[in-house]
Amino acid sequence: MARKILAAGNWKMNMTPSQAAAFINDNKEAFANDEVDVLFCVPAIDLPAALAAAEGTNIKIGAENMYYEEKGAFTGEIAPCMLDDLGVKYVIIGHSERREYFAETDEIVNKKVLKALEHGITPLMCCGETLTQREQGVTMDFIRQQVKIGFLGISAEDARKVVIAYEPIWAIGTGKTATSDQAEEVCKGIRELICELYGAETAEEIRILYGGSVNGGNAAELFAKPDIDGGLVGGASLKPDFSKIINYK
Ligand code: PGA
Repeated sequence: MARKILAAGNWKMNMTPSQAAAFINDNKEAFANDEVDVLFCVPAIDLPAALAAAEGTNIKIGAENMYYEEKGAFTGEIAPCMLDDLGVKYVIIGHSERREYFAETDEIVNKKVLKALEHGITPLMCCGETLTQREQGVTMDFIRQQVKIGFLGISAEDARKVVIAYEPIWAIGTGKTATSDQAEEVCKGIRELICELYGAETAEEIRILYGGSVNGGNAAELFAKPDIDGGLVGGASLKPDFSKIINYK
């Protein structure tokens, strides 16, 4: 069975709850396309408003982060059961901004991925190299390490539910997209690693996204690559033009 393209927005720290509701309400017709999965991962405080605005549409709403403990003295954190209670079924885990500014390690990412799966929430697990790593030719070694540790302890049955987002750090928010060949090369390498870890069937099923300056102009070329199953989109997901990514064909 062919993998369905996922057009996922990552709003980062943008949009208030009322702006979130207005944006979804104003654009829901333009964002309608049953052939593509459409998802917006939004700030935690926007979740109720975004979920309400997306009700009855094809738009799915996810979170941008989550903690790995069930509850307790972790001031400011969001527990998986809180997302679950709202009906949130997706969460971004280990985005490079969380790794860089909030000291998330591969081990923390692994705990969060496991916890999301335990709660039936689909994790979008991010990985990606720095410019130095790319220039030194260690991209695939680094990505393999991130993905291997991120997937520690995950069964084959659960592994196929994870979405992996390959986002080279040098391409995020810079307007500098990886070429479709560069993006495909790494996404293919990730699929090969999943095949080594879990076998061909899981590798065939798992969705691997590319992220980093995806826009309406480059989505078609990227999504046409055999191992790229959609995009994780930052800046371009905050604009009505996101419809061009959803309707990339
Ligand atoms: P960008 O962000 O599309 O603005 O480059 C992508 C991301 O960080 O997920």
